[in-house]
Amino acid sequence: MFNKMSITDIDVSGQRVFCRVDFNVPLDEQRNITDDTRIRAALPTIRYLLEQGARLILASHLGRPKGKVDPAYSLAPAATHLQGLLGKPVRMASDCIGDQVKAQIAQLADGEVILLENVRFYPGETDNDPQFAAELAALADLYVNDAFGTAHRAHASTEGVARLLKPAVAGFLMEKELKYLGEALANPERPFVAIIGGAKVSDKILVIEQLLEKVDSILIGGGMAYTFLKAQGIATGTSLLEADRVELAKKLLAQAESRGVEFLLPQDHIVAAEFKADSSAQTCGNTDFPADRMALDIGPQTIKLYRQKIASAKTVVWNGPMGVFEFDAFARGTFAIAEALAASDCLSIIGGGDSVAAVNKAGLDAEMTHISTGGGASLEFLEGKELPGVVALTDR
Ligand code: 3PG
Repeated sequence: MFNKMSITDIDVSGQRVFCRVDFNVPLDEQRNITDDTRIRAALPTIRYLLEQGARLILASHLGRPKGKVDPAYSLAPAATHLQGLLGKPVRMASDCIGDQVKAQIAQLADGEVILLENVRFYPGETDNDPQFAAELAALADLYVNDAFGTAHRAHASTEGVARLLKPAVAGFLMEKELKYLGEALANPERPFVAIIGGAKVSDKILVIEQLLEKVDSILIGGGMAYTFLKAQGIATGTSLLEADRVELAKKLLAQAESRGVEFLLPQDHIVAAEFKADSSAQTCGNTDFPADRMALDIGPQTIKLYRQKIASAKTVVWNGPMGVFEFDAFARGTFAIAEALAASDCLSIIGGGDSVAAVNKAGLDAEMTHISTGGGASLEFLEGKELPGVVALTDR
């Protein structure tokens, strides 16, 4: 289980604390933040550190500016937004390393906060360059990592600096993410159901293999379902198909059978002639799939079946949408899963960007037990991989 030091284990009063957060948030063309979930999720750690009298230095990346300064990727909008949420000044640093930033940090009083500029303005960040990590470490006395969303990256601000600034401890968000995802996998209350969707089998092979060892049922949706149906010899028209993964899909189906895991695939589908928002939709089953149509969502019988499985589950992990939920005509299956989870009293854990976006779009986020702030990070965790940003923290 989680054996890393936490912010509650250390005295931060009067200390310069380098806190890595994941403020990699979506912005519109006017550079307004369109979803502040990740900033809000870091508030408990930020508030705690400020209340304890830390001199708080927040660091994050935003987007992928490729190691060059690019104003389009400045974190300034995040500083303004955080200031509004905290109700106290948040200074915006001119850079993330260097003498000018050191001088700005030297002006911080206990309980004050500054946000460094995008760490990915330097190639040393993604290269995990020891020199760049040392320059970050020179800014502070202690290290806190609350950036679960970036914990799967071995970068200078997530991994390198944690090796230099000791103790390196986990923030509240990091702990919460690892607690929910970790406990669900290690000690689930049963029945334990995994709902896996998304376009490609190839993106989810490892997670399906891992989950086959733990769950009672797997419910499959999204584009990947059609490679599995093909593996069962079912005609799927012009639906998405990874022809080179059909054998693998057969193998996964056989593994599920030998382990006694129920592996459910869609029984009916919402199909259309083209991948377009205004394509006219029709419903078909597995025996009457039109040769010139592609499936863009799961159908009503499948929704009914999946709802029943969710209703009797005690633990559910959901990763990936059931259909093209960005198009209203093909969003029903994905929203039905969100609604079924909201209505159930199971422990519900939502990981992965698209399923989280769907839950938010349905306005059901408050009904879920835990919504992960990590897309790639939660997927890698579910795949059973170690997260470098966590490994580098100081053991308890
Ligand atoms: C994410 O959005 O998944 C994290 O912030 C990591 O971003 P990255 O995929 O650009 O490393």
